[in-house]
Amino acid sequence: MSIDTTKDPVLQAIGLEHTYDNGFQALKGIDLTIYRGDYIGLIGQNGSGKTTMIKHFNGLLRPTKGKILINGVDEATMTIGKISKQVGFVFQNPDHQIFCPSVSEELAFGPKNCGMSPGEIKDSVEDALESFKITEYANHPPAILGFGLRRKVSLAAVFSCRPTVFIMDEPTVGLDHRSARELLDIVGELNSNGCTIILITHDMRVICENTKRGIVLRSGKLILDGTTREVMSNIEMLEQTQIRPPQVIELSKELSPPDVREFPLTTDEFIKKFIKAKKAM
Ligand SMILES: Nc1ncnc2c1ncn2[C@@H]1O[C@H](COP(=O)(O)OP(=O)(O)O)[C@@H](O)[C@H]1O
Ligand SMILES: [Mg+2]
Repeated sequence: MSIDTTKDPVLQAIGLEHTYDNGFQALKGIDLTIYRGDYIGLIGQNGSGKTTMIKHFNGLLRPTKGKILINGVDEATMTIGKISKQVGFVFQNPDHQIFCPSVSEELAFGPKNCGMSPGEIKDSVEDALESFKITEYANHPPAILGFGLRRKVSLAAVFSCRPTVFIMDEPTVGLDHRSARELLDIVGELNSNGCTIILITHDMRVICENTKRGIVLRSGKLILDGTTREVMSNIEMLEQTQIRPPQVIELSKELSPPDVREFPLTTDEFIKKFIKAKKAM
């Protein structure tokens, strides 16, 4: 299986380069097309350029060379307001973006700024409350909620603008296993409903269990792009970037004949492939 390129491209980087003011070149020519409905895991060790690339997607940084297209339109011709309506970005720390007196006002803030009508604002706030399962907290001040709920509020506040692409930087950091699972289930549902997702995380199990496509950056270059299974099965290449796939993949590789190139991504898949297959024999 490979990436389905028959869908509409929603975000394209063409020869994208970025050099910071101090002369450091953080992106060295990225060519990448993101399709509607993609669920991307963006991987790379610290300093590889993930945040720099994402900041181009939502207009916070402009290319030094090359360009970004959103739904086919050159970002250079768009205001940052227009870009951020289409590309939603959730910061790593929820408290960096929460500032309203109630959860529902927090969720209405973006839609108001995007110029939605009062009816549309009401609908999108209700939709976001429901999608993130926080309707019962609508009138609570976000500041008194626990960390996991504040994280949900910060995601819902970006989602309420109805972005085409939804980018999350380490959304599960600081959450216990259950809260992380719950959040990822919600994100998975959004993706099933057609939302394009880019997830940045250092947790390779999260990548394997949730995303459909993997993109790996190293020193400002895109070095791997494929289905999550193709990317995670490329253990040698990942090693060069200090990324270690979940042990179940290494174990599967050990147990498979040398010509097998793709491996189970999760323990469930592993059990199906190796244990159940053995029992059936
Ligand atoms: N404002 C800046 N000025 C100069 N260099 C920067 C700036 N921001 C990031 N960098 C450098 O660019 C490289 C990529 O950083 P970043 O995009 O934050 O990587 P990642 O998100 O993958 O950790 C790093 O070497 C970092 O030190
Ligand atoms: Mg970063």
